[in-house]
Amino acid sequence: MVDHEELARPWTLPPDDPRLQPYAKNPARAEKVIAACFIFAILCLAAFGASYWQAASERVMGGFLAVGLFALGFGIAAWGKYLTPRGPFEEPRHILHGTQLEQEAFQAAVVERAEVVIGRRPFLIKLLAMAGGITAVVMAFPLLRSLGPLPGKSLFHTPWRKGSRVVTASGRAITVDDLEVGGILTVFPEQAPGSAVAQTLLIRVATEPIVTQPGRETWGPAGYLAFSKVCTHAGCPVTLYEEQFQQLLCPCHQSLFDIYDGAVPVFGPAPRPLPQLPLMVDDQGYLRAQADYDQPIGPGFWERTTT
Ligand code: FES
Repeated sequence: MVDHEELARPWTLPPDDPRLQPYAKNPARAEKVIAACFIFAILCLAAFGASYWQAASERVMGGFLAVGLFALGFGIAAWGKYLTPRGPFEEPRHILHGTQLEQEAFQAAVVERAEVVIGRRPFLIKLLAMAGGITAVVMAFPLLRSLGPLPGKSLFHTPWRKGSRVVTASGRAITVDDLEVGGILTVFPEQAPGSAVAQTLLIRVATEPIVTQPGRETWGPAGYLAFSKVCTHAGCPVTLYEEQFQQLLCPCHQSLFDIYDGAVPVFGPAPRPLPQLPLMVDDQGYLRAQADYDQPIGPGFWERTTT
């Protein structure tokens, strides 16, 4: 026969029960040691945050972080081991689900014990909260500082601008007479010679204007065509020109681009054509860009971002 009244009575132990005593022989001293651990952890984590902000060496930052987290973990473990009642605790139980009265009594007993076990050490609680808070703050540093500014629209443009003169890597301006038919040259806009994103293959395929796609009637003056040199597969420089087939070859994974058809890929893994730079010839015979590329240069990733 279940004695519900007996079970509903809050389950308590006499205060002098050895199971309620902390494991530490000298709880006051243990509390001091644990407090010292938390304070040490706070200092180390703060030092980690400061060194991270000052871009100190990885060893310094790693050292502060490791020691701080170790001290924090050590303090928490020591608190659990030495300052909480040692137990074990057993409560007589006859049935698996209790009455409403029993559940309320159980909740009251848990709250009461929690207040006794944890609440009686407010100093340690405050220190633990400070250590946890500073850990959260310094862990947010990579988000606050390391990711850098957002790229915005910068990845969708190159330094080519309307009227940019076409120059070599050394800055020499290219005239319409510089290349023979079949000639090829890596060129850049005059304001950014050597730019990785603006590098462009200039090819002379004929002496008369060339139209590679509808809408590009004026892009290939005097037989000059210009395509981004950055492969649309994985970004390798497209360096090889096969004059016989009028194709460009990327040496990394052998993508082939048909330059008479707007450099569409005809073989290999490249997913889209090499962007074509619209050219023009000015009054003095210099080659210039009519505008920037009309689409992002480089690997197919950018194509997905623009659709
Ligand atoms: S990077 Fe050009 S084919 Fe792969």
